Amino acid sequence: MNYKLIKMNIHGDERGKLVSIEGGQNIPFEIKRVYYIFDTLPNQERGKHAHKELEQIIIAIDGACQFVLDDGQKREEIWLNRPDVGLYIGKNMWREMRNFSYGCKLMVLASTHYDENEYIRNYEEFKKQKNNV
Ligand code: TYD
Repeated sequence: MNYKLIKMNIHGDERGKLVSIEGGQNIPFEIKRVYYIFDTLPNQERGKHAHKELEQIIIAIDGACQFVLDDGQKREEIWLNRPDVGLYIGKNMWREMRNFSYGCKLMVLASTHYDENEYIRNYEEFKKQKNNV
C-alpha cells in the first residue's frame, strides 16, 4: 500500500500551537499546489479516484474524516482526525473519503498542478491498470 502517516512537529506554548510544513524536509516532494476542502457534510462522499502521477499529503486541520485506500489488491480504512498528522498518498492509489465530521477541513499539498487527464475516475479501469490487464 503506497501510503503512510507522517507526524508533524508541534510548536506549542500557552499562546496556542503551530505546525510548520517545509517542502523537501518533512514533505517528500516539491509542493506545486495547495488546496483545501471545507463545508463538508457527513452524508457526502468525495474522492473515488486515483492519480497516475500525483502524490499528496492530506491534513485534517479541523475535524475528522475517514479515508478508504485501495491499491487494486486490498482496501484499508483510516481515520484522519489530527491537525499534526499528514496522510501521504503515493501514485496510483484509489481513495475515497467519507464520514466527514460537520465542518471538517482538509488541507492538501500536491506534487503537481491540477490536470484532469491524470485522474482515473473509473474503478474498473484503475484495477485493470494496476493489474496490467
Ligand atoms: P475532485 O478532484 O473531484 O474533488 P475530490 O477529490 O475532493 O472529490 O475536484 C472537484 C472539482 O474541483 C472538480 O471539478 C475539479 C476541481 N478542481 C480544480 O479545479 N483544481 C484542483 O486543484 C482540484 C483538486 C479540483
